[in-house]
Amino acid sequence: MLGTLLRGVGIGKAFSRGIVRRRTRVVLEDVTLEIGEGRTLGLVGPSGSGKTTLARIVAGLETPTAGRVLYRGRDLRDLRGGERKAFRRRVQMIFQDPEGSLNPRKTIRRSLEEVLDLRGVQGGGRQEVREVLEVVGMEAEVLDRLPSQLSGGQNQRIALARALILEPEVLVLDEPTSALDVSVQAQILHLLRDLQRERGIGYLLISHHPEVVGFLAQEVALLRGGRLLRIEGGEEGKAGR
Ligand SMILES: Nc1ncnc2c1ncn2[C@@H]1O[C@H](COP(=O)(O)OP(=O)(O)O)[C@@H](O)[C@H]1O
Ligand SMILES: [Mg+2]
Repeated sequence: MLGTLLRGVGIGKAFSRGIVRRRTRVVLEDVTLEIGEGRTLGLVGPSGSGKTTLARIVAGLETPTAGRVLYRGRDLRDLRGGERKAFRRRVQMIFQDPEGSLNPRKTIRRSLEEVLDLRGVQGGGRQEVREVLEVVGMEAEVLDRLPSQLSGGQNQRIALARALILEPEVLVLDEPTSALDVSVQAQILHLLRDLQRERGIGYLLISHHPEVVGFLAQEVALLRGGRLLRIEGGEEGKAGR
């Protein structure tokens, strides 16, 4: 049986607003979910239902106000040193707006090489950048361009390349194709499917389009008003295994 990589247990999130009259708004309540090796959990729900907040919590970018997130069985709050580094490297998030997730002043080359530096790779990095570009279906000539000089689909491929350099176990994909043209959406979804097959990466795939999650997900959950309702599970995704 394939292992569980990330688990959220009883996750709650409340945001406080106002300084004089402090009000809290509950955005997530008692959300439990699991992301397994080589599998996709789809997450759908109306705008404002808490999808992005949940994604950020699971990716460790935000802390829950209730419940906990476990990476390979360990509470994120207890991760220190090497374990914390491993989590930061192996769990990556891809955002809806691909251009916004890249530094507008840095060439694609710098954006990619910087991640290699983060990983402590010296020398040999250039070759690896070329290899990962090929994996995401891009030509080396884009390396000297800025994000503003690429299309949305190309930038999303670069964002993916950047994450892949870190050899992720989990990708949290927050509406990764929503900003793209329909034909480009399909290309990115096929790329994601192939990457998952080859590398066994676990996905949390958020979209408000059921057909997008249906293509990849074996299990789909619906978030409504901050509560998770499981609507379909156990079946294999249409992309097959
Ligand atoms: N940092 C924040 N501070 C206050 N409220 C927030 C914050 N982030 C999100 N929210 C609120 O939480 C709710 C859920 O937002 P979000 O997670 O972005 O939903 P979705 O991604 O499903 O559209 C919204 O009402 C939003 O206004
Ligand atoms: Mg959102």
